[in-house]
Amino acid sequence: MRIDIVTLFPAMFEGFVNSSIIKRAIENNYVEVNIVDLREYTTNKHKKVDDTPYGGGAGMVLTCQPVFDCVKALRKEDTKVLMMTPQGKTYKQQTAYEFAKMTHIIILCGHYEGFDERIRTLVDYEVSLGDYVLTGGETASMVIADSIIRLIDGVIEKESHENDSFSNGLLEYPQYTKPRVYEGLEVPEVLCNGNHKEIAIWKHKESLRKTYFKRPDLLENYSLSEQEAKWIEEFKNKE
Ligand SMILES: C[S@@+](CC[C@H](N)C(=O)[O-])C[C@H]1O[C@@H](n2cnc3c(N)ncnc32)[C@H](O)[C@@H]1O
Repeated sequence: MRIDIVTLFPAMFEGFVNSSIIKRAIENNYVEVNIVDLREYTTNKHKKVDDTPYGGGAGMVLTCQPVFDCVKALRKEDTKVLMMTPQGKTYKQQTAYEFAKMTHIIILCGHYEGFDERIRTLVDYEVSLGDYVLTGGETASMVIADSIIRLIDGVIEKESHENDSFSNGLLEYPQYTKPRVYEGLEVPEVLCNGNHKEIAIWKHKESLRKTYFKRPDLLENYSLSEQEAKWIEEFKNKE
């Protein structure tokens, strides 16, 4: 997979591509991440990429020319173009799975007041991180790229992301590590007894419990098994 991130602030990505799992994924050729400086595509002699909005209003708007030329230069047959925008569809883990199957993604980072509306004609997906406004699309694009890269086969253990929150519609079960007792707080006995069947049942039930208490909205689209419905009744009785 190749991810091209188009930005006015390439320096912001230095830590991102040079740290931890993302760095390793790049070094091991699971993914190619190109940070593309939008200013290199402007035909303006002063390297200007933005202008004042028609109709008045505060701030500056990214102009069409550099973005159109940049996307034209980068686009291949199988490319999908993602625009980072608070007006897009709110990003979810299921979308990360969908994007992780793609072979080439261009991510457009806005800045200032955002994009000239006509730039949307280049775009396959408008992606929002949530209902709030960031100064630029750079941090958002790192979130998107990170969530995609960790799903590429081989980057992390498959079992690891398969059990992550949202992957099966629920939050992940509680996790513990050594020591077994810390300041009087104990690890649940079942996790230490070596009985894999009991542990699996416990994890499943605790995953459902967490979801029920912390994110009940997730259960609206979740089809409960008979056992899960019984557990939910049990949780309700303890509320
Ligand atoms: C200050 S924002 C522009 C917001 C725009 N004026 C609006 O109200 O829709 C600048 C850029 O930050 C990025 N951005 C801001 N909030 C975002 C969000 N919630 N999700 C994704 N990108 C966001 C977008 O790339 C956007 O073009």
